[in-house]
Amino acid sequence: MKEKIVITGGAGLIGSHLSRELLDDGNQVMAVDDLSQGKVDNLKDLMEHKDFSFVQSNILDNQNLEECCSGASTIFHLAALKIPRYRGYLKTLEVNAKGTQIVLDCARKIGARVIFASTDDVYGKNPDSLVSEESSLVLGDSQITRWSSAASKIYGEHLCFGYAEKYQVPITIIRYSGVFGSTFQLSSLSGVQDLLIVSALTQRALPIHGDGTQTRPFTFIEDAIDATLRIWRTASTDGEIVNIGTGTQISIINLAYLIWRFVGINENIQLNFIPYTDFSHLYEDPRHRKIDISKAKYLFGYQPKISLENGMQMQVEWFKNNLKKIQKLNPSFSTN
Ligand SMILES: NC(=O)c1ccc[n+]([C@@H]2O[C@H](COP(=O)([O-])OP(=O)(O)OC[C@H]3O[C@@H](n4cnc5c(N)ncnc54)[C@H](O)[C@@H]3O)[C@@H](O)[C@H]2O)c1
Repeated sequence: MKEKIVITGGAGLIGSHLSRELLDDGNQVMAVDDLSQGKVDNLKDLMEHKDFSFVQSNILDNQNLEECCSGASTIFHLAALKIPRYRGYLKTLEVNAKGTQIVLDCARKIGARVIFASTDDVYGKNPDSLVSEESSLVLGDSQITRWSSAASKIYGEHLCFGYAEKYQVPITIIRYSGVFGSTFQLSSLSGVQDLLIVSALTQRALPIHGDGTQTRPFTFIEDAIDATLRIWRTASTDGEIVNIGTGTQISIINLAYLIWRFVGINENIQLNFIPYTDFSHLYEDPRHRKIDISKAKYLFGYQPKISLENGMQMQVEWFKNNLKKIQKLNPSFSTN
């Protein structure tokens, strides 16, 4: 039987790919997104699908969200704002914290399950070389506003457990780690790989925050969606937190070299080092982050298949083929 599934943030990177896979699986999908970051173009091929609908709405509009969710068995709650490096802390807190409570309230009323997208950024400054779901969440000073997004996701995780305890809402928390893949949106909140690729393709110096020796994990979208669907199908993930990534990492400077090579520019690489003080006089970024994905492996057989190099090569090719449209949709990236 067809299940109705609602995806908040459905026009974003993960939401649009998840919509496609859930439709292919024979479900009825409703994507809800205010398009503050996501693009309708991410869903263009789905618009004519008889089991797909898109609603442009802010999740903070609880009445509208309740109408959208009516009859849904699962809500994938992906709508959120990412790390606000330059500004927008209050909006981030509002959308991520208040928005998650509205989604959970909605799930309580209609008896739906919630799969909540959290982030590996909740591990913050934890100095361990490998962080698992049981590791401590170590955020910096509240004056360092960059932590607002991680703080709001931690609050969202607690809300999930609160609604599970008080109202028996079935919940699962996914801590995604550096997911990348095809998307038409490009902004200061975009993943570093997209900003590096577009800079290289438009012959601009590649922006590197700090000295570039910090390492980051990268997970190709196909693996992230495979894990998400496995979680959805596995009853024993109820009440669990799961790290989803690949467990591999690369320094940002090496990522810049890799992308430069894949773009195929036969000249010396141009790098633009941006000091952290440009974001704020108080700024912090984790030096390294490596997540342990063994829980996902043992609980539901997740095994990432796409290597970082193969994934990045596909990402560069996709951006090459879609650059004009990306520039048109995101005018601030259109000049050389
Ligand atoms: N991509 C990653 O690497 C990554 C890593 C960790 C966590 N996550 C989490 O996974 C989820 C999806 O990430 P993504 O990469 O697809 O991000 P994304 O920015 O591509 O998608 C989020 C979507 O939410 C929408 N949105 C924002 N505020 C909204 C609001 N008030 N009402 C309705 N829609 C709203 C945006 O327009 C966007 O389309 C997010 O919750 C994110 O925090 C992603």
